[in-house]
Amino acid sequence: MAVSPILAFDVGGSFVKAGLVNVAEGRLAGEVLRRATPADAAPEAVMDLLADMTRELPSGGPVGLAFPAVAKRGVAWTAANIDKRWIGTDARTLLEARIGRPVAFLNDADAAGVAEMTLGAGRGRDGTVMVLTLGTGIGTAIFVDGHLLPNTELGHLEVRGMEAEHRASAKVRADRGLDWPEWAAAVNEVLAAYHALLWPDVFVVGGGVTENWEHFGPLLKSRAEIVPAHFRNDAGMIGAAMAAASLAEHRSAS
Ligand code: BGC
Repeated sequence: MAVSPILAFDVGGSFVKAGLVNVAEGRLAGEVLRRATPADAAPEAVMDLLADMTRELPSGGPVGLAFPAVAKRGVAWTAANIDKRWIGTDARTLLEARIGRPVAFLNDADAAGVAEMTLGAGRGRDGTVMVLTLGTGIGTAIFVDGHLLPNTELGHLEVRGMEAEHRASAKVRADRGLDWPEWAAAVNEVLAAYHALLWPDVFVVGGGVTENWEHFGPLLKSRAEIVPAHFRNDAGMIGAAMAAASLAEHRSAS
């Protein structure tokens, strides 16, 4: 059965991306829109932007929304790299009201993880897989035998007196002007802390910075296997679209 592409958003601390995703193949169908996150990234301003982008990418059916916060039953519960007014906001209901379509709302790293586990670097992997997104913050998604433990938020784990994402996000590398070996050493400390707690079998390392994998990937060390994410910076959109597709399946089955 041919399935039409699904509209998905990935809201980040710096950029909001939107694309139409061919879920069965795990690829973007056409161009990706990329807009700066509004300076006043309060819920209303972001919803305006998402509604505009929806008009620019004509499509139908459910929509996926990956968001950099704890996401439970449509509501955002944290806001580390986004306006604090998001805390307690029912983002799913707001967007559904704006665009008149069902919305799957999930944490951005969980979305990236779903994409990697379904069709990417974690496909077919059992045991404990930890997917990391290194961007403005550090996102984490943990899968055990393919099942997601949502909202793990280990970018905020304290590592030697500092939050992991304040030590080793991609933004930290840029802000502090770290060279690749310096930054890889910081990431290695974070990997060691995660390994000591969770003993994952594999780390899937993602985020836009993985475009430079050849500069830092070989410098990463852990007792666990380390592999680059397959979908790189598109994983959030692709996973959000997958979540939206299964929302549609559940609704039509019920
Ligand atoms: C947020 C997470 C998010 C991660 C990556 C963290 O600061 O707390 O919810 O997944 O950044 O965007």
